[in-house]
Amino acid sequence: MGIYIYREEQIEKIFRACQIAVGVLKVLEPYICEGISTFELDKIASEFIAAQNAKAAFLGYRGYPATLCTSINDVVVHGIPSKKVKLRRGDIVGIDVGVYCDGYYGDVARTYKVGNVSRQAETLLRATEEALMKGIEQVVIGNRISDISHAIEVHAAMYGFSAVREFVGHGIGLSLHEEPSIPNFGEPGMGPRIAEGMVFAIEPMVNAGSFEVRILKDGWTAVTADGSLSAHFEHTVAVMNGKAKILTAIE
Ligand code: MF3
Ligand code: CO
Repeated sequence: MGIYIYREEQIEKIFRACQIAVGVLKVLEPYICEGISTFELDKIASEFIAAQNAKAAFLGYRGYPATLCTSINDVVVHGIPSKKVKLRRGDIVGIDVGVYCDGYYGDVARTYKVGNVSRQAETLLRATEEALMKGIEQVVIGNRISDISHAIEVHAAMYGFSAVREFVGHGIGLSLHEEPSIPNFGEPGMGPRIAEGMVFAIEPMVNAGSFEVRILKDGWTAVTADGSLSAHFEHTVAVMNGKAKILTAIE
């Protein structure tokens, strides 16, 4: 199989899917307040995606039942939106959304604050977003995939936090998940070389405590094993002119 190399016209289409995904986050942002249920957020997202003539990429993926993943506090990823789960002041909530449009996929996630949050939560959000950017900086022609992984792990560790090992970033474009898988930890200098036209979803999850996670009985919700807070940031990037172009940047 190997890693797919996308042509410019294809990357343009991935960009369009990515911009709809980022558009979802922009539409949701004003609603991320105390009292709203994650089900309501999911509904707003679904309606927006439908209005763009696009499709929710996660809905039905291996049986996943919603448009968004909404992951609160100790939920690492894959929190399922629910009428019973309402945002509370002081929460952090990761919102992850994938979009399919005109044959191509885009994937983005950010973790948001609900009102004022603890100092630790503030630091965790900053560390995780910075770790994502450190990973993206390693997306340079000639580097290897694990250079991304290593940069993420080291940055989380610098804050005394732990990059999650159980979930990985991935190639993306014609499918939601393609080669290569991009771990968020590891020795540098390993794995395939990065080349022009590759497209990656880079997505560090960082726990305030240990990196261990467990999956709840719903088969999806991943929580930290020690109950500590967790954050998740994700961008889809394309290798263009030798370096990363962030396709999910807010334009
Ligand atoms: N961003 C995550 C990923 O790429 C979210 C997947 S949710 C799922 O794996 F439902 F699609 F699994
Ligand atoms: Co992803």
